[in-house]
Amino acid sequence: MAKILVTGGCGYIGSHTIVDLIENGYDVVSIDDNSRSSEGILNGIEAITGKSVKNYKVDLCNYDETMAVFQENTDIVGIIHFAAYKAVGESVHFPLMYFENNLFSLINLLKCTQDFEVPYFVFSSSCTVYGTPQIIPVTEATATQPAESPYGATKQMGEQIIQDAARVGNTRYILLRYFNPVGAHPSISIGEMPLGRPANLVPAITQTAVGKIDKLTVFGSDYDTRDGSCMRDFIHVSDIAHAHTLAVEFLASKPEGPKLDTFNLGSGNGVTVFEAIKAFEKVSGQPLNYEVGERRTGDVEAIYADNKKAVEELGWQVRYNLDDMMRTAWAWEQKLLHQGALFDSQNSKLN
Ligand code: WQD
Repeated sequence: MAKILVTGGCGYIGSHTIVDLIENGYDVVSIDDNSRSSEGILNGIEAITGKSVKNYKVDLCNYDETMAVFQENTDIVGIIHFAAYKAVGESVHFPLMYFENNLFSLINLLKCTQDFEVPYFVFSSSCTVYGTPQIIPVTEATATQPAESPYGATKQMGEQIIQDAARVGNTRYILLRYFNPVGAHPSISIGEMPLGRPANLVPAITQTAVGKIDKLTVFGSDYDTRDGSCMRDFIHVSDIAHAHTLAVEFLASKPEGPKLDTFNLGSGNGVTVFEAIKAFEKVSGQPLNYEVGERRTGDVEAIYADNKKAVEELGWQVRYNLDDMMRTAWAWEQKLLHQGALFDSQNSKLN
């Protein structure tokens, strides 16, 4: 079986991607220092797939430790790189921590990719690189705008570093620009585990619904959208995960393809914050306690994807709709509540 290295494999999108890779016949190893994740999620992956995945608890900013993983796994044919800090607000307060962590780790990984001549490299990018688009939906050809945050800047710089690295050696690269990943695996064995109070909308909704948060604040209702709240492109995390498997298969099936390619991963549907809340209330059968507050600095008014390129070239199909996203997110939040600390970080066992 072809072996794929997933960095950030204990994280939200990383864990869901490992499940999809295994279900599609790949062997997987993970590198995750668990600074913002729990190895316990690997028990959830095993519950779904029956496979025990090895995680190397390595800081990717340490080149020697990272290189040692490649020495132990010389049969890695592809790398999917998720590991990065991703909180927009935090990045504004700690920009150097974000540039150091997100860029040093990427550069070390790219050096190993070239040293060990790894054929494929898939990079976790983000719709953040588009900034505030002049025209929506955005295609991969839409010009990027200045990043709204240091987090977004690390994704833009990461893409630039990869573009230059792609000119050297034989590795081929794909950049996947996620829109807003939400929801949980349909088995409800894995899902999102935000550290502290979630910045993202959907976990904030579900934590409000279970009472972890008293009241949700909608950051602004005076935008130039159909209901005044911001518009986003929500996409189920399992759809995002499968796109990574398809990206690896695309690279393997087209040896003469371009050295670098880019794909938008969004549903293609613009949904406003108020519409997302209404979808949750419908699915959960309960009203959500929320109020409208001030706009959040750095928020983009409206963005959603033209996903035709991924659909036509990767053979990607968006399988989950907004109700599925809310239903799985809600079921996961309830599981977290009823099972306490689902993954005890001490013994990293599924309780
Ligand atoms: C969505 C909308 C908020 C919380 C970011 C990153 C992106 C990706 C996803 C990593 C906005 C509103 C939110 C709340 C609210 N990250 N909101 N009340 O900012 O679109 O994207 O996360 O891959 O790269 O930029 O996501 O979920 O934070 O916000 O009203 O309590 O929900 O104002 O309009 P965002 P988000």
